[in-house]
Amino acid sequence: MERSRNRAGPTAGARTAVVWTLLRQELDRQAGRSLTVLDIGGGTGGFAVPLAEAGHEVTVIDASPDALAALTRRAADAGVAARVRAVQGDGDALAGLTEPGEADLVLCHAVLEVVEDPAGVVAALATALRPGGAASVLVAGRAAAVLGRAMNGHLDQAGALLADPDGRAGPRDNLRRRFDADGAAALLGAADLRVEQIHGVRVLADLLPAAVADGDPQALVDLELAVAARPPYRDIAAQLHLFARRAS
Ligand SMILES: C[S@@+](CC[C@H](N)C(=O)[O-])C[C@H]1O[C@@H](n2cnc3c(N)ncnc32)[C@H](O)[C@@H]1O
Repeated sequence: MERSRNRAGPTAGARTAVVWTLLRQELDRQAGRSLTVLDIGGGTGGFAVPLAEAGHEVTVIDASPDALAALTRRAADAGVAARVRAVQGDGDALAGLTEPGEADLVLCHAVLEVVEDPAGVVAALATALRPGGAASVLVAGRAAAVLGRAMNGHLDQAGALLADPDGRAGPRDNLRRRFDADGAAALLGAADLRVEQIHGVRVLADLLPAAVADGDPQALVDLELAVAARPPYRDIAAQLHLFARRAS
């Protein structure tokens, strides 16, 4: 993957650099066009506001009024309130909140692990895309969670996570499911989205002592970008990023 310096995105730290790199490639591909972007579960606008600052029209759909209030303030502070629309709604009801074919780009980051019906959400986001439009989907990785639980001494939870078809560590797990790369790709494929690229996000960032990460943040970003597309590193990332496209 391309190295990050001044390229990955507006505020690309190690936790977001890989995703911004993929988004930047798509924005470059559409050079000059103001895109219609849907950000499902977009929260406080970590992606939405920079995209609006870059000239795109962004609708954030999120279940949390507090997150949307923060988004609205952030957009106003950045001078892009006119290009950011906040819609309170449940991802599971996405089909009723969007128009078919309205979006050039859909972001669905850290949401499929918490909704009731991920296949339904993916089908709705695919419908919201125009033919040829792109989807940026970020999901929690199962392998990182198994390794993390085991390294913290919770061998029972690690075993449960490994065995559970949904990648859940039991009823008290705060996520409903986690994904392997194949499973996430199959979920998108079932909605007729063609997966173009899969990357690991936070392969290393969560594993390093803070002093190392803080000591040379750019070195960490560069290393994250270098390993992101390469199994086995990709597959042990805290999150998996899938970049997919609706057929033209
Ligand atoms: C972990 S945050 C991710 C925020 C943002 N997408 C990002 O990656 O920085 C998850 C977001 O999804 C929202 N959310 C959770 N469940 C949801 C649901 N069922 N429908 C819509 N949004 C939901 C939360 O309010 C929160 O803003």
